[in-house]
Amino acid sequence: MIKVNKIKENIYQIRVMDLESKNFHGCLFPVEDGTSYACYLIIDDEITLIDTIDDIYFDDVIVEIQKILDGKKIDNIVINHVEPDHSASFELVKDLYPEAKVYTSKSGVKAMQAHFFKEHTYLPVGVNDEFSTGKYTFTFLDTSLVHWPDNMWTYLKEEKILFSNDGFGQLLVDDVVYDEEISLERLLDYSREYYANIIWPNNVNTGNALKKFDKLDWEIDLIAPGHGIMIKKHINEMIEQYREFVAAQTKKKALIVYDSIWSNTQTMSQVIKMELEKAGWEVKDYKLSDSRVSIIIKEAIDSQLFVIGSGNQNNCLLPTVADFLERLKASHFKNRDAVAFGSYGWAPVPFKNLTERLSEAGFNVLGDPIIVNYRPNDEEKAMVAQKLNELINN
Ligand code: FEO
Repeated sequence: MIKVNKIKENIYQIRVMDLESKNFHGCLFPVEDGTSYACYLIIDDEITLIDTIDDIYFDDVIVEIQKILDGKKIDNIVINHVEPDHSASFELVKDLYPEAKVYTSKSGVKAMQAHFFKEHTYLPVGVNDEFSTGKYTFTFLDTSLVHWPDNMWTYLKEEKILFSNDGFGQLLVDDVVYDEEISLERLLDYSREYYANIIWPNNVNTGNALKKFDKLDWEIDLIAPGHGIMIKKHINEMIEQYREFVAAQTKKKALIVYDSIWSNTQTMSQVIKMELEKAGWEVKDYKLSDSRVSIIIKEAIDSQLFVIGSGNQNNCLLPTVADFLERLKASHFKNRDAVAFGSYGWAPVPFKNLTERLSEAGFNVLGDPIIVNYRPNDEEKAMVAQKLNELINN
């Protein structure tokens, strides 16, 4: 579904809401409600297109763009980010408007050359650069690694609009245009899920981008991201939430994540949950095969303790757990504690792998794994509780 939203008399958002999509950002993680992407068209003496969206949507998107153009041509294409969800249609747009100048970040030039094989002249831009289209002036901020090295934000000075691409995006696919139509709580929750899964691993770089952003002292009336809805009511809250992410503070919160073939590891997780709650921890627990991984990662970013459990499949970790450990590693968590646990059948083989992989992922692993053979009986449940308390209290 394509929706054109008129932001100002001469500024348009063209938004794709793909309700059928099963994954976000390529195959990175599954989503349930679909995904959304946006590009922006600014009509002035010269006409500027900011981002071009994935080419799988090109046929529909270009129809909407050309309706607005009404026979005019695009003079400038700004590539805020080369990742294909934002730029894969570039070549198709450029074929239609071969005279268009192409602006991207310095890293973007290299990335564009690696993605698109025709020779094009790219104009590298950064914080001291700007171009005018008549009454409008566009300028830029290099936001490298908020998400890829080439990311940048584009600022339209006269209208105080920040085109932030991946920055300030949300996993929100809804027939809503602006944040004023939903609660702040809902907005921040979707933003948190998005940030945790997309941008969190490069938290330090987001901090650097925010420092540069603060120095610019740009007044902002509207944040127009590449994913989700536009933000005009809660701009300060969104920016403050990013500062909170960058600070990466944890709280007394435990994340129990496991999978379980015949409920034995699950029974252990229930004992662990009860003990942690008795000890005053906020606890979130997830059985991987019943859960959406992006929600788990969202809950992970302020958790101090990770309690990760697996059953045993032919002396290996359960596949869902093995996958999750790789996601933890890719998330670059720092200064977090971890406890491993699980039930085994013939031999307690996979737990060494579990603790090693938690260490490799950067966790401070507390002691040996808590393990039980087959179904935990009452005595073994008491042992699980006792061992857990020893590990978290030492
Ligand atoms: Fe939405 Fe990094 O692309």
